[in-house]
Amino acid sequence: MSEPHAHDTIRAVQWHGDHLRLLDQRRLPSEESWIECRNCESVYRAIADLVVRGAPAIGIAAAWGVVLASRDGMDMPSALARLREARPTAVNLMWALDRMKRRIVDGTDDTLLVEEARAIQDEDLQANRRMGALGAALIEPGSGVLTHCNTGSLATAGYGTALGVIRAGVEQGRISRVYAGETRPWLQGARLTMWELRRDGIPAQLIADAAAAYLMRTGKVQWVIIGADRIAANGDVANKIGSYALAIAARHHGVRFLVVAPSSTVDMATATGDDIEIELRDPAELLQCGGVRTVVAGAEAWNPVFDVTPAALIDAFVSERGVVLKPDAARMRELFPGD
Ligand code: MRU
Repeated sequence: MSEPHAHDTIRAVQWHGDHLRLLDQRRLPSEESWIECRNCESVYRAIADLVVRGAPAIGIAAAWGVVLASRDGMDMPSALARLREARPTAVNLMWALDRMKRRIVDGTDDTLLVEEARAIQDEDLQANRRMGALGAALIEPGSGVLTHCNTGSLATAGYGTALGVIRAGVEQGRISRVYAGETRPWLQGARLTMWELRRDGIPAQLIADAAAAYLMRTGKVQWVIIGADRIAANGDVANKIGSYALAIAARHHGVRFLVVAPSSTVDMATATGDDIEIELRDPAELLQCGGVRTVVAGAEAWNPVFDVTPAALIDAFVSERGVVLKPDAARMRELFPGD
């Protein structure tokens, strides 16, 4: 594993030779506790229950889950299928499992599987640093940015996607103000992004999700910067619920909208955002706040945890392969010709 850089100290997914160690993101910021996964099923549970979350991080965790499954002598097609069903929207999960599957030819070879899982993890970190540099170069010095959900070291192998661009932009003096939306209902922004930024010494202010349009109106932000869970062939982007509303508000206020995601998030086999399965989670997540029930007993709730931002609302998409300005099907195909 590469050494952490300044402003990038967190490694939430760690392989320890015979088990996977995960920083339990359900408990942050009040408690920094770790869980150890020693078999495929515990990795499945950690992904499904959001111990580990964020598109690249769940792909990396699943890859290590395949190593553990193979060591347990599990039937490989069943192990791959089990991990695949942990969450439906982030394509990095399926992408990582497909990569691991390609290493299983005539039976499983532990060295090959470990090598592949490590490569998936290391390549993600490298991609994030590259995207940080490419994305920061788009931002004029002195800009303010708004981000959504958590897209940092907690959600990746390290450094982050959208938060990687913010790390690089702050280091270069291009970004002078960082705002993070709280990201109801699971509060990835409030609980995770604010913790991560504070830990790494990057000043930021939390806003209520509902304050985003007003923030844009004040002129304090020039860019909204988000990550992605799946990007369709026409450039439509599935990301945390609320991203679509931010894109509409940004367009209305002349604020630019930047999506940052590695090529492992691009799904050229899916034609448009309408074809992406949006995860529906337990309504209980929405009926409470901080573990305290906030809604009258008996009330029902609808809890989609992702939405799709149409490509037409996106000003730029940054991947480790390069930048796509005003993404559409033709420009996506140019950058991802063989995918
Ligand atoms: O439900 P989550 O927390 O897994 O959702 C995460 C997001 O939507 C992130 O924005 C996305 O995975 C990009 S993370 C680099």
